[in-house]
Amino acid sequence: MDSLIGILQRIASEAIRDAFESNIEDIAQFLPAEVTQSTQDKFGHYQCNSALKLAKALRQNPRNVASELIEKLKSISEKDSFIEAMEIAGPGFINITLKKNYIADQLNKQLNDPHLGVAKPKIKQKIIVEFSSPNIAKELHVGHLRSTIIGESLARLFEFLGHDVVRLNHVGDWGTQFGMLIAFLKTYQKDVLSGKKTPELSDLMSWYKESKKLFDADADFKKTAQLEVIDLQAKSEESINAWNRICDISRAAFKEIYNLLDVTITERGESFYSAKLKGVVEDLEKKELIVEDQGAKCIFLDGFVSKDKKPLPMIIQKSDGGFNYSTTDMAALIHRVEEEKADRVIYVVDAGQSLHFQMVFKAAEKAGYFNPQKKQFNHVEFGVVLGSDGKKFKTRSGETEKLIDLLSTAVSKAKELLKDKLSDVSEEELDKSAEILGIDAVKYADLSCHRLKDYVFSYDRMLKFEGNTAAFLLYAYVRIQSIKKKTGKDVNALMKSAKISLSHQTELSLGLHLCRFEESLMQIDKELLPNRLSDYLFQLAEKFHAFFRDCRVEGVDEEDSRLLLCELTARVLKTGLHILGLKTLDRM
Ligand code: ARG
Repeated sequence: MDSLIGILQRIASEAIRDAFESNIEDIAQFLPAEVTQSTQDKFGHYQCNSALKLAKALRQNPRNVASELIEKLKSISEKDSFIEAMEIAGPGFINITLKKNYIADQLNKQLNDPHLGVAKPKIKQKIIVEFSSPNIAKELHVGHLRSTIIGESLARLFEFLGHDVVRLNHVGDWGTQFGMLIAFLKTYQKDVLSGKKTPELSDLMSWYKESKKLFDADADFKKTAQLEVIDLQAKSEESINAWNRICDISRAAFKEIYNLLDVTITERGESFYSAKLKGVVEDLEKKELIVEDQGAKCIFLDGFVSKDKKPLPMIIQKSDGGFNYSTTDMAALIHRVEEEKADRVIYVVDAGQSLHFQMVFKAAEKAGYFNPQKKQFNHVEFGVVLGSDGKKFKTRSGETEKLIDLLSTAVSKAKELLKDKLSDVSEEELDKSAEILGIDAVKYADLSCHRLKDYVFSYDRMLKFEGNTAAFLLYAYVRIQSIKKKTGKDVNALMKSAKISLSHQTELSLGLHLCRFEESLMQIDKELLPNRLSDYLFQLAEKFHAFFRDCRVEGVDEEDSRLLLCELTARVLKTGLHILGLKTLDRM
């Protein structure tokens, strides 16, 4: 099914070609036509803005050009007759109003399409979404939580659109820190390594800190730790067992969070690429991209300078022979292009690492590992989570912030809120609903703010029933379920015998918004901003409430049509929320 904007863009492009091809040499630069959604109802439904640019090239008055375009548009669209009115506005915009019946036809098609009118892609892409990526034996912080929530949602979007999606967890599971930790555990926590004792991730974190202190203070310990690194790199059995044990303990903690968040992800940590690093450095040397600087092998790239304006090195091999974060990312990039055959790779990592990714992408391009014309590499960066004091978010316990506690708090607060509303359900059912609302609230609070901005974490705000919150959207869905129940009609049967038609103004406004579902998803495909979808859904819920205020559903002549409109609203809401990673409730 074509989107309204797509249809209008097509006929407007045809009109531009027909009208001006003979007068403008390079007509292609004006194609496709510029069509946007109208910002206000009084400006019609869509707007074509091409006349202004065309007028410049033609050296004509833009309003005259607009009027010529309108004539062409009229003759092209005549046979389909879906345009109600066209009007010139301001300096030469064309406001387009569509026929009600045409919008209703679109809605009927959308309702009967299991994919809700969203077209499958012309070219199916292989898209890797790398997200979450916490570090073993280190703190899993709210930054990783943001990455997890945003990444899961982008993965779901591309899956829904019909692409081939691979979700990767680039866990920090390799590096010199493991030498220290293994040396420490061997001396002080033998039972942990043998498997007799299973500690929590927070214990592991504090041992990691202790081992680091020892490393800096105690020369003997330092030596032992360094030998452990060599052992690990040589993959000695004992070392690998110890390393696996440490990873497993961390993994269990990550898994608990992914389960609660309903996140699916494949772990492919830094260690996966460890055997490839040497080859990467050799290849870069062969391509003459490496410059030695104070013993380290570096890549220098045009335009990248430090604060004091000195060329900024990307260190690919340290002077002691060790490899770096960047080396692993180069190896991962090559693997994703060459082995995985990805068309697009998305890295969901905090904005603090933006320079790193710019340099990795640029260096890889220079080395010929990918052609930016053919493949897309996107760093999807995001801002930090702030506490109510405006500082970086920390739980009361300070640095050993446990994400799982944060999520559990949201769930128990949600339970408090639902207790009265669901007084007649079993404890088990109440817990289930509370988990959905609590987790939805945390996710939605994150996804609904522009990801580049910092946002303040507030349980109270995220759990409000009014405003742009998860609960407000869930409530619209719940309301529709109860209307359906009240009428006692089987909607699936009704779909075969009845149709949506639009009469009231708020009904039309809801209908038009439903038709724009695909348009809003396409926008995220381009900008990778999940808040475009949350904004769309928030408006959908608002438009639904306005419709419901103005238009009776039950017991009127329009009952069947309106019930179907409600059903379509519920389906779009549920699907949109699913793409954001949220579940719906049938009652609340
Ligand atoms: N483990 C890293 C961290 O916690 C994030 C990894 C991001 N991904 C990457 N390909 N470098 O900061």
